Amino acid sequence: MPSKLRLGALASGGGTNLQSIIDRCGDGTLNAEIVLVVSNNPQAGALDRARKAGIPCLCIDHREFADREEFDRAVVAALQEAGVELVVLAGFMRIISGVFLEAFPERIMNIHPALLPAFPGLHVQRKALEYGARFAGCTVHLVDGGVDTGPIIIQAVIAVLDDDTEESLSARILQQEHRIYPRAIQLFAEGRLRIEGRRVRIEPPLCPAEAVLTNPPLE
Ligand code: GAR
Repeated sequence: MPSKLRLGALASGGGTNLQSIIDRCGDGTLNAEIVLVVSNNPQAGALDRARKAGIPCLCIDHREFADREEFDRAVVAALQEAGVELVVLAGFMRIISGVFLEAFPERIMNIHPALLPAFPGLHVQRKALEYGARFAGCTVHLVDGGVDTGPIIIQAVIAVLDDDTEESLSARILQQEHRIYPRAIQLFAEGRLRIEGRRVRIEPPLCPAEAVLTNPPLE
């Protein structure tokens, strides 16, 4: 068994994605360990989850820094100190600066609750509903200099139902987030991601050519 991938997790909110990663590390599905959790929000539920799991955690409050770069330098220093190999953004509501990207090139992942490149940014479940999309979903991607623009590793697709509300749709998307984020991290841990420009190849390939969904179904 190769040594465990050392993860640093950044979270601003409740931390259910963080919890899914903690749980998959715990049951051995994920050959990784979270060595540090950082939140910019002192009230983040993610910090409670880390404490409960016995994972070292820090609050680095962005409001105490003069600018984005200075905040990022403090976060990067903490992650490097902990020997982090891959940074996972788990509901981290801050834009990452060049300082961060240079410290962890192609080593920062993010989860986003939409099928990118549709609906980057905020309130995206509502936007998908308002647009009338028949599918919604979530995306794990590598972070680059843009907002939700980096190379895509994995996506999960769910059908939008006629009686969906923003809440019901968000809840079903979140269930899939909890499945795909650990999977993306495990593929990284296994060295199976080849980044070629915008495209990420999975080696060996996993998806059958017949994989198709329609909504409504054809029959
Ligand atoms: C998740 O839905 C995640 O995809 C989203 O915030 C939520 C965090 O939930 N992230 C973004 O919108 C990032 N742009 P959690 O704290 O329960 O994991």
